[in-house]
Amino acid sequence: MNALQKNNVENNPQEQKSVVIITGASSGLGRAFAVALDERLPQTAVFWLIARHKDTLEETAATLNRDVRLLPLDLTLPESFTKLNAILEKERPVIRYLVNNAGEGRAGNFENESFDAHKSLCDLNVRAPLLLTSLALPWMEQASRLLFTSSVAAFLPQPGFASYAASKSMILSFARALSEELRPRGIHVAVTCPNPMMTDFFTSEEKEAFQKSYKRLSIEDPDVVVQKTLEAVERGRRLIVTGGWGKAIHIISRLIPISWMTRIIAKLSSRDT
Ligand SMILES: NC(=O)c1ccc[n+]([C@@H]2O[C@H](COP(=O)([O-])OP(=O)(O)OC[C@H]3O[C@@H](n4cnc5c(N)ncnc54)[C@H](OP(=O)(O)O)[C@@H]3O)[C@@H](O)[C@H]2O)c1
Repeated sequence: MNALQKNNVENNPQEQKSVVIITGASSGLGRAFAVALDERLPQTAVFWLIARHKDTLEETAATLNRDVRLLPLDLTLPESFTKLNAILEKERPVIRYLVNNAGEGRAGNFENESFDAHKSLCDLNVRAPLLLTSLALPWMEQASRLLFTSSVAAFLPQPGFASYAASKSMILSFARALSEELRPRGIHVAVTCPNPMMTDFFTSEEKEAFQKSYKRLSIEDPDVVVQKTLEAVERGRRLIVTGGWGKAIHIISRLIPISWMTRIIAKLSSRDT
């Protein structure tokens, strides 16, 4: 029996009392969240790792020192939520932590992208975190935590990245309102807004272009983002901006008229392309 088979408790539902759910756990920030939470949380909690590809989820699982359940699900598909709901109803776990992290984005003008690309972004960045939160909340209790991955892009409309920035604004707004709604239940809701990170989120061409542009100054390391985020969550913070660049944009977004800022961003992004 190899380490993965030993860890994977898919066929052993009785053991799953206390669970941590992480979406987008197969790479980038989601994998970094899984590794860091593995070090911080009691071993009694089973990690449910969600992404489409089982092989890369297995790679994440192999780095963890606890029982895991791999859920290779496409969160843009309604049947994935039906399946998740059935698992929750059957196993009736206590969800200690839900990290709504999976997301996608492509740079470029809105009208240059296909209908299917727009649908996928809406389904994954907006619909999936809302639906998963809705399914998870009945299984959460006092001191459970809900964490959303938004982005610095949430603070301003972004010509050249319009739908992605808008989807992240929606998550930011949703998380902040939900954190007040859930305060009486003692469920802590937080949202993290990282700067760009050179993960699989970007193609290799996009990474190369990034390194050549002024935007390279804003790049953050996913492990550092996760560390800062989890420390801030433990201190009770609800809005977490992990980098200096992001903090500056957050302040600017409240001081300078949005119409000026969008024009400046449009000029800068047309210079980059
Ligand atoms: N990288 C950045 O610059 C940056 C900056 C700020 C915020 N963020 C946010 O950080 C989060 C994580 O991004 P990342 O940088 O870690 O990107 P990433 O390395 O591309 O990771 C995305 C994760 O989401 C999963 N995923 C993608 N489509 C999915 C689908 N349809 N159903 C289920 N899972 C899916 C991927 O696994 P599969 O491919 O196996 O499904 C992967 O595990 C996203 O919400 C992103 O918006 C990223």
